[in-house]
Amino acid sequence: MTIQNSSSSAFNLKAITRPNIYVLEPYRCARDDYKTGVLLDANENAYGPALVNTESAEFSVISSDTLAGLNRYPDPHQEEVKQLICNLRNLPIKDDQVVEPLKPANIYVGVGSDECIDTIIRCFCSPGKDKMLTCPPTYGMYAVSAQINDIEVVKVPQDPANGFDIRTDAVMEALSNDPSIHLLYLCSPGNPTASLVDRESVKKILKHPTWNGIVVVDEAYVDFAPVGSSLAPWVTKYDNLIVLQTLSKAFGMAGIRFGISYTSHSIATILNAVKAPYNVSTITSELAIQGLSVSSLSNVRKNISYILTQRDRLLRELPLIPGIGNFIGGHDSNFLLVQILDKPAGQPSNIVANKLYESLAQNKGVVVRFRGKEYGCLGALRITVGTGEENTILLEKIREALMEIYKA
Ligand SMILES: Cc1ncc(COP(=O)(O)O)c(C=O)c1O
Repeated sequence: MTIQNSSSSAFNLKAITRPNIYVLEPYRCARDDYKTGVLLDANENAYGPALVNTESAEFSVISSDTLAGLNRYPDPHQEEVKQLICNLRNLPIKDDQVVEPLKPANIYVGVGSDECIDTIIRCFCSPGKDKMLTCPPTYGMYAVSAQINDIEVVKVPQDPANGFDIRTDAVMEALSNDPSIHLLYLCSPGNPTASLVDRESVKKILKHPTWNGIVVVDEAYVDFAPVGSSLAPWVTKYDNLIVLQTLSKAFGMAGIRFGISYTSHSIATILNAVKAPYNVSTITSELAIQGLSVSSLSNVRKNISYILTQRDRLLRELPLIPGIGNFIGGHDSNFLLVQILDKPAGQPSNIVANKLYESLAQNKGVVVRFRGKEYGCLGALRITVGTGEENTILLEKIREALMEIYKA
């Protein structure tokens, strides 16, 4: 950032800006790069919002009462939507132990899970003093929010040779050795790895004998993983756990900005005390309530099953294209991470992957994300699973673009 002082006053922006903010590299969203085309870059839900009747002529989900009441501030506590979230997640889980059901007091809701990520850091890490731990490759906003809050990030990379498992012992050791680490951010299924974190590893860390800190498990994509994969029900059992979810992915409602944090009553009380009083708008909460209704949930399940069918198709058909290498990571999400080779049957290459990414976006109208610079992701593109029609275009355009790149 270079900002010049155009007046002759004593004003010097650099001198009064917090140094960590002055040098901040903002998070680069998918939409910063390309805005049009077949958009398979932001892990959105190509099948549309879960809301009922989106195809009907009378589709109008905001009630006239809600519209007439927009002169009033929204409910600061969002009790109704929190109860629906609890009903949704109070399902039997894989583990045999009976856990206490989730209640609205276990929940903090934010403007997308991105706001939750930031609120948690602000609550539990003192700027310039405390640290947090992440396991790269992982979601970029953890580090950006950390920098905004002047929090150092300690990194314990995942193990790419082992399907991107987290290195549990190394994480345990890092936590033992540094009491200034107050938060551990895990992403399950991971972005960009699409693999679930082993629940036994999470359990082991939650029971760390000496570390005093909080484990945050970001489950933005958990609804694309096998049913019962969520650790949200564990928050009534472990006092030091926060689980994040969002309506942006499986629910197809990224535009309303609604993120969820499940945690103990004590942590939820702190998060709710720190949030802006009316962070979730009336319109957002009304749409979230509708998205969580019984009929919308059946749309959610239908769309998830379409996405999983299309994911299987990409897993089968992408490797038939010369120059497509291995899928790396797992298959538990609505995207895949795949390596691009320097020549058919060659080696993974960042140069070719980046050329393919640019050629797809600039010449072929298909936008995916280059992830080759992430730890353990050499030559990788991250491709969101689109609709059947979009995936047909994707497959055809990748084949075409790779042929052109190899010929040049
Ligand atoms: C792992 C992960 N967490 C959180 C988010 C942000 O979600 P939201 O739209 O709820 O802010 C994303 C968005 O892509 C993500 O990939």
